Amino acid sequence: MYRYASFALFLAIGIAVQRSNGTEVTVKDDNDNICLYAQLMVNFSVSYEVADNKSQTVMFKLPVDVSTNGSTCDDASSTLKLNFGKGHSWSVNFTTNGKMYNADTVTFSYNLSDATIFPKSALNGTQNVTAKPQFTEVGIDTCYSCRSIDTIEGESVNQTLWNVLIQAFVSNNSKSENITSCAADMPVTTAAPTTPPTTAAPVTNSSTAPPPTTTPTPTLPTPATGRYNVKPDENSTACLMADFGLRIGLKTEEMNFEPNGTTSSGSCGVNSSQLVLVSNAVTITLTFLNDTKKFHLHALNVTGKTSSGGAFSVANTNLSLWEAAVGSSYMCNKEQNYTITEALTLYTFDLRVQPFGVKKGVFSTAEECFLDSDLSFLVPIAVGVALSFLIILVLISYLIGRRKSRTGYQSV
Ligand SMILES: *[C@@H]1O[C@H](CO)[C@@H](O)[C@H](O)[C@H]1NC(C)=O
Ligand SMILES: *[C@@H]1O[C@H](CO)[C@@H](O)[C@H](O)[C@H]1NC(C)=O
Ligand SMILES: *[C@@H]1O[C@H](CO)[C@@H](O)[C@H](O)[C@H]1NC(C)=O
Ligand SMILES: *[C@@H]1O[C@H](CO)[C@@H](O)[C@H](O)[C@H]1NC(C)=O
Ligand SMILES: *[C@@H]1O[C@H](CO)[C@@H](O)[C@H](O)[C@H]1NC(C)=O
Ligand SMILES: *[C@@H]1O[C@H](CO)[C@@H](O)[C@H](O)[C@H]1NC(C)=O
Ligand SMILES: *[C@@H]1O[C@H](CO)[C@@H](O)[C@H](O)[C@H]1NC(C)=O
Ligand SMILES: *[C@@H]1O[C@H](CO)[C@@H](O)[C@H](O)[C@H]1NC(C)=O
Ligand SMILES: *[C@@H]1O[C@H](CO)[C@@H](O)[C@H](O)[C@H]1NC(C)=O
Ligand SMILES: *[C@@H]1O[C@H](CO)[C@@H](O)[C@H](O)[C@H]1NC(C)=O
Ligand SMILES: *[C@@H]1O[C@H](CO)[C@@H](O)[C@H](O)[C@H]1NC(C)=O
Ligand SMILES: *[C@@H]1O[C@H](CO)[C@@H](O)[C@H](O)[C@H]1NC(C)=O
Repeated sequence: MYRYASFALFLAIGIAVQRSNGTEVTVKDDNDNICLYAQLMVNFSVSYEVADNKSQTVMFKLPVDVSTNGSTCDDASSTLKLNFGKGHSWSVNFTTNGKMYNADTVTFSYNLSDATIFPKSALNGTQNVTAKPQFTEVGIDTCYSCRSIDTIEGESVNQTLWNVLIQAFVSNNSKSENITSCAADMPVTTAAPTTPPTTAAPVTNSSTAPPPTTTPTPTLPTPATGRYNVKPDENSTACLMADFGLRIGLKTEEMNFEPNGTTSSGSCGVNSSQLVLVSNAVTITLTFLNDTKKFHLHALNVTGKTSSGGAFSVANTNLSLWEAAVGSSYMCNKEQNYTITEALTLYTFDLRVQPFGVKKGVFSTAEECFLDSDLSFLVPIAVGVALSFLIILVLISYLIGRRKSRTGYQSV
C-alpha cells in the first residue's frame, strides 16, 4: 500500500515536471492535419575554436520558442526541424515501414557567427553534426517516450535529451495516447538477467505521461558455456583450464560472450598465468597470480565493439576475484556479477577455472564460491534458530501463565 502511494506521488511529480518544461511543437501536413508531434528538452554542449588554436565550450538549451519551418511529412518519411536563435536548428528524420517507425539521424546545425552564443569564435558560418538517435522500432500510432537522460556524444558537440515525447506519422489528426517507452525508462528489475520476460510488449496504453510498466528490460538468454585451454605447446596437456559463460554489461547494453568461434591462447607461469580470449566482437585478457598458497584473478582487460559500433576498452589490474588454493580449481555454478570498473560489469555462469597446477588436463578438486555452498547450509541453520526461538517463546509464555494462575489462587 505504502509503496504504491509513494509511487503514485512520484508519477504525479514526474508529469508535472514534464508538462511545465520543454519545447512542444506540432507539425501539420498539407491538409492541415497534425502529422508530427514533439515535446522534448535538449541541452547542447558545444566546443568551438577561438583564437590561437584554443577551444572553448559553451552550453545552452533548446529554447521553448522554436519554429518548425523546414519540417516535412510524407507517407514513408518525415522530418522534424526545430529552428531557433540566429540560424541554429535541430532536426530528426523519421522513416516508417507501416508497422514501426525509426528516427534515422539527428542533425544539429549551429551558426558560429552568432556571437551571443559563440563569442570570439575563430570560424564563422554554420556547422553540422549528425548522430544516430536512440529511438528506433517505435510502434506506429504510438508516441516514443523517454524521460530518462540520453546523451549523444560527439567530437565537438554533446546533446543531452530528456523528457522526450515524440510521435511521427500521426494519424487522425491527434497524438496517440499509446506509448512506446525507451529502455532506460523501464523499471530496473532486480531479477537476474536470466529470468524470461513476462511480456515482451513495450507498448502500453496511457492517457497521460509514460507510465512505469512492469515490463522488465528485454533480457538476454543465458550465455553458452565456453571451454578454454592454454597448452604450453601443441603436444602437451593443458596447463590452464577455464570453463564459463560470460556476459558483459556496459552502461548502454549487455552482450553475451559467444564461445563459438572464440580462440583461446595465453601462457602459464609459476607466478602468473594468462588467458586471452578473442571472439568476433570482444577480446578478453585474464591474468591470474599465484601468491604462494592461493591464486586469484588479478587483472581483466576487455576490449571490443558495441552493437552500435562504438569501441570500448576497459581494464582493471587490481582485482582479487576467484581465489582458491594453488593446486585446486575455483568453481561457481550460480550466476555471479562483478563490477570491474564503473563502466563494466562481468556476469559469469557455470564458472570453473584453474590457472596453475593442472595435472593430466583435468580440473583438480574445486573450491566453491560462497553462493554455491553457503546458502544451502545457512537455510537449515536459519530454520533451526527460528524453531528454537519459537520453543523458547512457548516455554516462557507457559511459565508466565503458570505463575499468574498460581498467584491467582493464592490471592483468593
Ligand atoms: C541542462 O542545462 C541546464 C543549464 O543550462 C542545467 O541546469 C541542467 O541541469 C541541464 N540538464 C541536464 C539534464 O543536463
Ligand atoms: C594551429 O594548429 C595547426 C595544426 O595543428 C598548426 O599548423 C598551426 O600552426 C597552429 N596555429 C597556431 C597559431 O598555433
Ligand atoms: C548566423 O549569424 C549571423 C550573425 O547573427 C547572421 O548574420 C547570419 O544570418 C546567421 N546565419 C544564418 C544561416 O542564419
Ligand atoms: C567569415 O570569415 C571570413 C574569413 O575568415 C571573413 O573574411 C569574413 O568577413 C567573415 N564573415 C563574417 C560575417 O564574419
Ligand atoms: C562530451 O562529453 C564527454 C564525456 O562526458 C566529455 O569528455 C567531452 O568533453 C564533452 N564534449 C563537449 C563538447 O562538451
Ligand atoms: C492503444 O493500443 C491498443 C492496443 O494496442 C489499441 O487497441 C488502441 O486502439 C490504441 N489506442 C490508441 C488511441 O491508439
Ligand atoms: C487506453 O486508454 C484510454 C483512455 O484512458 C481508454 O479509453 C482505452 O480503453 C485504453 N485502451 C486499452 C486497450 O487499454
Ligand atoms: C608434436 O607431435 C608431432 C607428432 O608426434 C610432431 O611431429 C611435432 O614435432 C610435435 N610438436 C612439438 C612442438 O613437439
Ligand atoms: C558455430 O558456428 C558455426 C559457423 O558459424 C556453425 O556452423 C556451428 O553450428 C556453430 N556451433 C554451435 C554449437 O553453435
Ligand atoms: C606458486 O608460487 C610458489 C612460490 O612462488 C611456487 O613455489 C609454486 O611452485 C607455484 N605453484 C605453481 C603451481 O606454479
Ligand atoms: C588492454 O588491451 C588493449 C588492447 O589489447 C591494450 O591496448 C591496453 O593497453 C590494455 N590495457 C591494459 C591496462 O592492459
Ligand atoms: C549481482 O549479484 C548480487 C548478489 O551477488 C545480486 O544481489 C544482484 O542483484 C546482482 N546484480 C545484477 C545486476 O545482476
